Amino acid sequence: MKPVCRWLVPLLIAIALPGTLRAADPFAGREHYKKHCAYCHGMDGKPGMPQTPDFTRKGDPGSGLLRGDVTLLNRIRQGGSSCPSFRSVLEDIQILDVIAYMRSMKR
Ligand code: HEC
Repeated sequence: MKPVCRWLVPLLIAIALPGTLRAADPFAGREHYKKHCAYCHGMDGKPGMPQTPDFTRKGDPGSGLLRGDVTLLNRIRQGGSSCPSFRSVLEDIQILDVIAYMRSMKR
């Protein structure tokens, strides 16, 4: 890499992607989760409805959180048999915030 590229490339990326490059924010995610997910999944991940996975079950693949962020992102975007699709409700970065919040739940 030419010396000038060492600062020019990151600078151009920083200019081109404002707001899209940031770490997932579990605090923002908590608000989205409260609004869109808690009435089925429970604020602490303990479901209030039958057939709803328990996000607090440790080491249980059924808890649904033992997957990478991208897999979970696609799952939440797409929805399931009873889980609504959030594709047109939340932006990807907001879903990643929700995932960060879900990963902070006590297991
Ligand atoms: C109307 C109730 C309802 C709402 C609202 C809801 N879910 Fe679900 N969710 C379910 C049910 C029931 C299942 C299990 C069946 C299925 O996949 O449809 C599920 C499954 C899931 C799974 C898969 C878990 C696994 O073990 O495979 C994830 C992840 C998930 N929900 C996340 C979310 C998130 C995040 C939100 C909010 C953005 C949300 N859900 C909103 C009812 C809901």
